[in-house]
Amino acid sequence: MLLTNATIATLARDDSFGLIERGAVALDGERIAWVGPQAELPEIYRTDETQDIGGRLITPGLVDCHSHIVFGGHRAREFALRLEGASYEEIARAGGGIVSTVAATRAAPEDALLAAALRRVDALIAEGVTLLEVKSGYGLDRETELKMLRVARAIGTRRPIEVRTSFLGAHAVPPDHTGRADAYLDEVCLPTLRAAHAEGLVDAVDGFCEGIAFDAAQIGRVFDTARKLGLPLKLHAEQLSHSGGTALAAAHGALSADHLEYATEADARALAEAGAVAVLLPGAFYTLRETRAPPVAAFRAHGVPMALATDCNPGSSPLTSLLLAMNMGCTLFRMTPLEALLGVTAHAARALGAPESGRLRPGAIADLCLWDVDHPAELAYRIGFNPLHARIFRGAL
Ligand code: NIG
Ligand code: FE
Repeated sequence: MLLTNATIATLARDDSFGLIERGAVALDGERIAWVGPQAELPEIYRTDETQDIGGRLITPGLVDCHSHIVFGGHRAREFALRLEGASYEEIARAGGGIVSTVAATRAAPEDALLAAALRRVDALIAEGVTLLEVKSGYGLDRETELKMLRVARAIGTRRPIEVRTSFLGAHAVPPDHTGRADAYLDEVCLPTLRAAHAEGLVDAVDGFCEGIAFDAAQIGRVFDTARKLGLPLKLHAEQLSHSGGTALAAAHGALSADHLEYATEADARALAEAGAVAVLLPGAFYTLRETRAPPVAAFRAHGVPMALATDCNPGSSPLTSLLLAMNMGCTLFRMTPLEALLGVTAHAARALGAPESGRLRPGAIADLCLWDVDHPAELAYRIGFNPLHARIFRGAL
């Protein structure tokens, strides 16, 4: 397939928009064969399968690199409680929060979990998402963690989207192990990680390093097991307080540290040295009415790549719009529209260890979005408007 008469935002290696006016993209099966100005198109890429796309914008397919999109139930009651003044931490310590979604997820049949997740996934697909990360972490027992990961894998067989899974057994201490976090890790979390890995259900390992979850030493034990299995690492770090997760993630060579509202300048330096991505989650910042923003200026100054994601989950971020996450990244965190677009393409792909996605260049996976906009900055600027014209997944419209 050959797409012509396009404005193309390639997201160049130097992290510019890499804009090409009157450009063309040649696809060869599931890969991009050539991208450039139409006037320079080599003869071998001319084909009858040519689509004039009428001057529209082409970007890479969008990447949502942090989601908890598989879960049972909802937490609308907690939303109301927070509006009445209760904090996220108070609700969690009183037995609500993550643990209440654990009960609903354990109770849900696998097909019902999948059907509910697909409704949310369809909203992401409608906005151009082609690569989606999905975490476990609402099972906290062997059976349900495996069930969640199987549902996550099933998403990729039911819809034209690539799914990368992250095992998040260290998300919260379940009620049957209250006060015994280390015993939970030894008896449930780590054996379940090994079992899920043996079944091919795990692409990366994540954790929640926080006062209401696990401390850095405990997360370090999860990371040690993950590294023995050869799995890449990610971490929920410094979301509600400074707990040392970012330094730990950097020291372990993690792909990313996520949230980061309470991260420091030293954390930014550590991420830069480790080459890790700072994944920012403005949906959670907004929903929890957090007032401390992540240190974007420090990330920028130290050259830390920043990604943006929905963090789609029933508690802190019931968000199924990556375009809105881009807008929030700009308005709430002062990212530029270019940083926002990099954040849902090249840098998000990097946060998943998927270098063949997120930039338009020869050899890259042929996942593309066609947009009814003049300039890529419009994608972050609009609120609640979806300008997607078409989406190409693995070379197919
Ligand atoms: O990314 N921070 C921990 N995990 C999720 C929230 C999960 C929940 O509240 O259900 C997050 O915000
Ligand atoms: Fe999360």
